[in-house]
Amino acid sequence: EKGGYEHFMLKEIYEQPNVIKDTYRGRLLANSGIIQMAGIEDNIEKFLNADRILIIACGTSWHAGLVAEYIIEEFARIPVEVEYASEFRYRNPIITNKDVVIAISQSGETADTLAAIKLSKEKGAFVFGVCNVVGSSISRETHAGAYTHAGPEIGVASTKAFTTQITVLTMMALRLAKAKGTISNSDFHRYLLELEVIPEKVMEALQTNDISKEIAAIYKDAPNCLYLGRGYNFPVALEGALKLKEISYIHAEGYPAAEMKHGPIALIDEKMPVVVIAPKQNHYDKVVSNIQEIKSRSGKIIAIVTKGDVQVKDLADHVIEIPDSSDALSPLLTTIPLQLLSYHIAVMRGCNVDQPRNLAKSVTVE
Ligand code: M6R
Repeated sequence: EKGGYEHFMLKEIYEQPNVIKDTYRGRLLANSGIIQMAGIEDNIEKFLNADRILIIACGTSWHAGLVAEYIIEEFARIPVEVEYASEFRYRNPIITNKDVVIAISQSGETADTLAAIKLSKEKGAFVFGVCNVVGSSISRETHAGAYTHAGPEIGVASTKAFTTQITVLTMMALRLAKAKGTISNSDFHRYLLELEVIPEKVMEALQTNDISKEIAAIYKDAPNCLYLGRGYNFPVALEGALKLKEISYIHAEGYPAAEMKHGPIALIDEKMPVVVIAPKQNHYDKVVSNIQEIKSRSGKIIAIVTKGDVQVKDLADHVIEIPDSSDALSPLLTTIPLQLLSYHIAVMRGCNVDQPRNLAKSVTVE
């Protein structure tokens, strides 16, 4: 059932090109320039009239929500807030019938997310679910929704659920932007075409498996690790750190790269591996200067770069090359080597990759 892979996690990492395709199939019609998602089409007015969108989720799904915040605000120009479901439900949040709530959950059974949905409904909000498990409690409790089509995710560490959530949320952002007229026709078309070929690029990003394994062997005994990214890749840094800590038990933290100088930089010495997500897009020059700051304090730099990069390659101790993409779609690619890196480190440390200690696949207790 592991399809020849040693662990479910690795199998699920490798399934990503296919499940991303399954997730956009029938919804993304790139050549005709159309995105159609039943749950959105039926409720488009609710989204267009919303004062704001509130995203609630936990863990990896919360990270997908952060990526969505950046994408929805950029394209559709609707204000977005992202909250941990566990905080939201207990803090008497301000929520009205002019709010649209998007709840993201792979399992559809997370207790805190479910409770936050019930609270939002009581206050009159329209609640839209992005779930993977068909017929799950959250998919039933929400007013409408869009399923990810990741298939069963067995590994406790979420991988393909994350990239398919981002796929759904990106399509939603583009569809809403189109309806609002906040994206030009040519940009809209360009993103549709690019999204369509993302599975091939993910496939190419999976070819970083060998280099990720080599780097894993060098850093497997590190007690700590930092992950840095900016913009769309800040949530990917958080996700990279979560993946490493939950399966390898190495203490890891993710930060927006520019926050480093407000504290975490004090941690950097010659023993500290720092994973920097540095694709050649919007914030590239800023990330390069962050890398210089780490280097001048002797930190060890593992950089995720765009194929053909020279500037970061000169500075970093190790580079992992991924295919080029637009800024907004880059999380679907930059996240791949981070999954592989944590997987190999955990295996080399003899950890139970698919069922890490103290964790359950779905957290049905609060
Ligand atoms: O099923 P959900 O997406 O609601 O689960 C949320 C989190 O419990 C989950 O993402 C958790 O953080 C994973 N172990 C991360 O890999």
